Amino acid sequence: MASAPPFQRQADPLISLSPFADPQGVDPALEDFLHRASSLLCGWLGRSTSGSPLPGLSAMPAIEPEGFGLSPDQLLADLQMVMEGAYNPNHPGALAHLDPPPLVAGLAAELICAGLNNNLLSEELSPSLGRLERGLCGWLAGQIGLPAGAGGVAASGGTLSNLMALVVARQRAGLATNGDGVVLCSDDAHLSLLKALSVMGLPQQALIRLPVDLEGAVDPMALEETLRALDHQGRPVIAVVATAGTTVRGAVDPLVPIADLCQRYGHWLHVDGAIGAVFALAQSPPPALRDLGRADSITVNPQKLLGIPKTSMEPSLAGAHGGEEGLQGTRPAEILKLWLGLRHLGQAGIGTLLEGALARRRRLQELLRVDERLELRSGSLHLLAFAAAGLDAPASDAWSRRLRERLLAAGLLLSRPLYQGRHHLKAVLGNPHTRSHHLEHLAAVVAEQQP
Ligand SMILES: Cc1ncc(COP(=O)(O)O)c(C=O)c1O
Repeated sequence: MASAPPFQRQADPLISLSPFADPQGVDPALEDFLHRASSLLCGWLGRSTSGSPLPGLSAMPAIEPEGFGLSPDQLLADLQMVMEGAYNPNHPGALAHLDPPPLVAGLAAELICAGLNNNLLSEELSPSLGRLERGLCGWLAGQIGLPAGAGGVAASGGTLSNLMALVVARQRAGLATNGDGVVLCSDDAHLSLLKALSVMGLPQQALIRLPVDLEGAVDPMALEETLRALDHQGRPVIAVVATAGTTVRGAVDPLVPIADLCQRYGHWLHVDGAIGAVFALAQSPPPALRDLGRADSITVNPQKLLGIPKTSMEPSLAGAHGGEEGLQGTRPAEILKLWLGLRHLGQAGIGTLLEGALARRRRLQELLRVDERLELRSGSLHLLAFAAAGLDAPASDAWSRRLRERLLAAGLLLSRPLYQGRHHLKAVLGNPHTRSHHLEHLAAVVAEQQP
C-alpha cells in the first residue's frame, strides 16, 4: 500500500513551500524562499541609517500557528514586521551595548548552521563541526597564551561561560558538596557571578567583593589581605575572579599580581574576559591584557566586539567533547560563525576592528575631556562612561535621562548604567560604522545639555 506524500502543496513551486527540504533534488521553492528572506535582511541592514538604532514599538504579527500553514509570502511579511521593531546594531549610532553589527560571514554561517542542524552534544551528531570547535578553541587558547593542550567550549554567552568556569573550579577544589566555599571578585565584576553562585546553591554572601581603585581595577593588596584572613579562618575558596574589561568602564584587574597570589594560595583563577579577552587577538594587545594566559579558565566573548552573531567561549584545560564538556547538552554549532567570521576578517581585519574600537574610545575621550562639567570613567579598552560632576544621585538620574533622550533624538543610542551610586551615560565604541563626525556630534549634544 503506497502512503500519501507527507506534505501536499500547490502546483506552482514558487508560491508553495514544503516544510522540509527535498532530499532528492534542489527545491526551487526553497531556493526562492531563502533568496527572498536574505533580500529582506539585506534591505533591513542597508536601510539602517534611515531609522533609529532603537525603533519605537511596532505592530507584531500573530503569535500562534494558524489552522493551516502560511504561504511563503505571508511568512516573509511576518518576518518583515518583526524586523521593523528590532534593535538595529548596524546603525552607526548604536553605541549603547556590547552588540556590534553582525559580520556578514557570520550571517551565511548562521544560515548554514541552521540548515545542517548538527548537535554539538556528540561526535556522531556533528563530526566535522565538533572537530572545528576543538580546533578553533585550541587555537584561541594558544592566542590567549594558555598552556599547550588547553581547549574550550562554545556557549550562548558570558553568563553561561562564567557559570561553567565556577562549577569546574569548585570541582577542582574538591568543594562540590561543601556549602562554605567563597568566590572573590571586584566590586565592578559582572552580575553573572552572582547568578552563577545562586545556580550553584550558594548564598549571595559567598561572593566576596573587593573595592576598586580610581581606575576601576581591584587592589591586589586588598585581595591579599582577604585571602590571608580567609586562610586563617579556614574558609575554603572556590576561585578568584579577575575581570578583564569591566562592564561599565572596561577596566582590567591587574592580572599578574592576582595570578601570583592565586598560585601562592593554590586557588583557581578565572578571568572574566567577556569584554577584554578578545584583544588577545590584536597584533599588539593593550599591556594590561598581555598575561591572560595565567588564568586557569577564561571567558571569551567574541560576539561583544568582533560582530560574531552571539557566541561565547570558555577555554579551559578540560579535554572532553560535546555533552561531557560544558553545562549544555544539545547545542548548535555556534562555532561555524566564529570560524567563518574570523577567516573572512583575517589577522589584518581582526586587528583593524580591535584597534578601531580603541581609537574611537580615545577620540571620544578627547572630545569629552574638554568639558569640565563631566567626570569620565574609562580603562584601556573601548568603553567610556561619564557623569555630570557634582550632581547627587537624583540629579544625575534626571540629567542622564534627559541627555539620553536628546542623544537618541540625534540618532545616538547610549546606555545609562547606575555606577557607584549615580547614573552615568555609557558609550561602547565597538561599532565600526561609527565615524569621527558621529562622535563630534555626540560631544556637541552633550555640551549643549545643562546639568
Ligand atoms: C564583564 C562581563 N561578564 C559577563 C557578561 C555576561 O555576558 P552575556 O550577556 O553574554 O551572558 C557581561 C555582559 O555584559 C560582562 O560585561
